[in-house]
Amino acid sequence: MELLKVACELNDVVDATMDQLWGGGLLLTSAGRAGTYNAMTIGWGLVGRLWRSPVFMVAVRPSRHTHRLIEETQEFVVNVPDDRLKDTVEYCGKVSGRDYDKIAEKGLTAEPGSHVRAPLIRECTAHYECRVIGASQVVPELMSGEVQQLYSAGNYHTLYYGAILSILTDR
Ligand SMILES: Cc1cc2nc3c(=O)[nH]c(=O)nc-3n(C[C@H](O)[C@H](O)[C@H](O)COP(=O)(O)O)c2cc1C
Repeated sequence: MELLKVACELNDVVDATMDQLWGGGLLLTSAGRAGTYNAMTIGWGLVGRLWRSPVFMVAVRPSRHTHRLIEETQEFVVNVPDDRLKDTVEYCGKVSGRDYDKIAEKGLTAEPGSHVRAPLIRECTAHYECRVIGASQVVPELMSGEVQQLYSAGNYHTLYYGAILSILTDR
């Protein structure tokens, strides 16, 4: 079978990643222990180097279904959509995987990853396969007033630090 995705370097995809992060958002996928998949939109995240590893840090509120799945498997994939997936990204940022199978509803193709159980969304243009190597909680007392204002309802993000195990893009 022809491989649709190939390994690449961070430099090949980082510009597209940042464009979407600051634009409509990226799609964070996760898998449950029972093999269920989910996708949610993220607009906050960081790519860099930490603890000797290339790391993608994502910020996930405890109320998200994704939070439960990452807690279960300690893995995730960050998928980079392009503008053709605008509606899908909006949808995945509005409804919860607790109530809907968003991947099926939007006709997305979930491909097995090679390093993690969380799926790659084939229709996206780049994918970061990540294993959680650390997590921390947003602690309100340590935040500026400006940041605290973003948490009027609590639900403080968990910051998941995912070691990037592979980066894939379209052939
Ligand atoms: C543009 C956009 C960016 C978002 N960024 C985040 C984020 O970085 N972290 C987060 O916890 N929720 C974020 N959300 C909200 C979740 O995507 C939304 O609550 C989603 O329905 C959660 O899905 P889940 O319950 O299936 O995990 C964002 C929503 C949108 C529309």
